Amino acid sequence: MTKVTLTVNGKTVSGEAEGRTLLSSFLREGLGLTGTHIGCDTSQCGACVVHVDGRAVKSCTTFVQDVSGAEVRTIEGMANSDGSLSVLQQAFQDHHGLQCGFCTPGMVMSSAALLAENPSPTEAEVRHYLEGNICRCTGYHNIVKAVLAASGQDVSSVAAE
Ligand code: FES
Ligand code: FES
Repeated sequence: MTKVTLTVNGKTVSGEAEGRTLLSSFLREGLGLTGTHIGCDTSQCGACVVHVDGRAVKSCTTFVQDVSGAEVRTIEGMANSDGSLSVLQQAFQDHHGLQCGFCTPGMVMSSAALLAENPSPTEAEVRHYLEGNICRCTGYHNIVKAVLAASGQDVSSVAAE
């Protein structure tokens, strides 16, 4: 076991971890941050995406020891400081970008990473960036619409699915 220290959603946290301990397990079981979901555990569905030093990372295939010292952001750290939804989260709600919600934490984290590096993506760029995030409910259309709306683009002409 090795001591791991991370900054998670702005707070410094430490814990013991084995070499094989995954970031997803450390967050969920070690810190109780269960907003990070586990859909496949094999890096395919994207439900477990968090930010590590600003990059979108699949936490189910990241060893926590490999990111010791990093800044991690999870879905629990995405709301505004007053507890209200961020612009992106509000756009998911407004445009029905979720149904069961299982994929949503990963979708929001991936979308936030996209908007940080490309503040005004095209529809094709959003779809391409979210290829690693699987949703079994929405058909993706409203998720894409929500991301475009969060970037400040007019989506009134985008047909509802
Ligand atoms: S749980 Fe990590 S990609 Fe599916
Ligand atoms: S909303 Fe159900 S999996 Fe995406």
